[in-house]
Amino acid sequence: MEVVIVPDAAAGGELIAEAVAGLLRRKPDALLGVATGSTPLPVYQALAGLVRGGAVDASRARVCQLDEYVGLPAGHPESYRSVVLREVVEPLGLSPDAFLGPDGSAPDVLAACEAYDAALASAGGVDLQLLGIGTDGHIGFNEPCSSLASRTRIKTLTEQTRVDNARFFGGDISQVPHHVITQGIGTILEARHLVLLATGEGKAEAIAQTVEGPVAAVVPASALQLHPHATVVVDEAAASELKLAPYFRATFAAKPDWQGL
Ligand code: F6R
Repeated sequence: MEVVIVPDAAAGGELIAEAVAGLLRRKPDALLGVATGSTPLPVYQALAGLVRGGAVDASRARVCQLDEYVGLPAGHPESYRSVVLREVVEPLGLSPDAFLGPDGSAPDVLAACEAYDAALASAGGVDLQLLGIGTDGHIGFNEPCSSLASRTRIKTLTEQTRVDNARFFGGDISQVPHHVITQGIGTILEARHLVLLATGEGKAEAIAQTVEGPVAAVVPASALQLHPHATVVVDEAAASELKLAPYFRATFAAKPDWQGL
């Protein structure tokens, strides 16, 4: 995997937004897998800036969700459908019809999970999947010890993840759902390019385990080591526990511009 160390979150956002813009220039109807949470917001802001400035046309882009809470009422502002509409679909001027996501309020959740995997496949697969990482090493909501071959399914959030996400629910952990639908690790690994962004010291240990530790289900993000095109973009704080940081810096500094991410 390629590890790119950037000075801060804004620089990470700009770097990844440029990579997405490059993809959209090559493939205007690319299917972009988007994550929610705080980390990817600088990417969406930078991409919206590129679209507004005319540097890229995103009008034919399609987006798909990585995960969704189970049991939040339709239209809840913290449902991931609402977040993706607010942070990605509207600022980029995409059609809501170009948007795929699992149905977290479906009466038959198992059928909704299977239907989502089938919808991703019939849409031609994900071209670029943007990922964040949990403090416990999760990607999507594949919590520690998720199968590395897992498909989209229902998962139970760890207490740590519910504590981490309580800030989106007014600090009230009782409002954070216990269950989610998440693309499985096997599903995520089918995307053509994986781009994981991590910022802040709180992610440093998870990043060190992901990049320099063994591939192990106890650190779900370590599955990125199995992907032929995985890029990990980290700010200085999230990179602070990487032993190979000098090598990663030298490699990126010597990379030809035409190569992109
Ligand atoms: C959300 C998701 C999660 C988050 C992770 C980090 O769609 O897939 O894996 O990326 O929990 O969240 P933040 O960015 O808020 O620290």
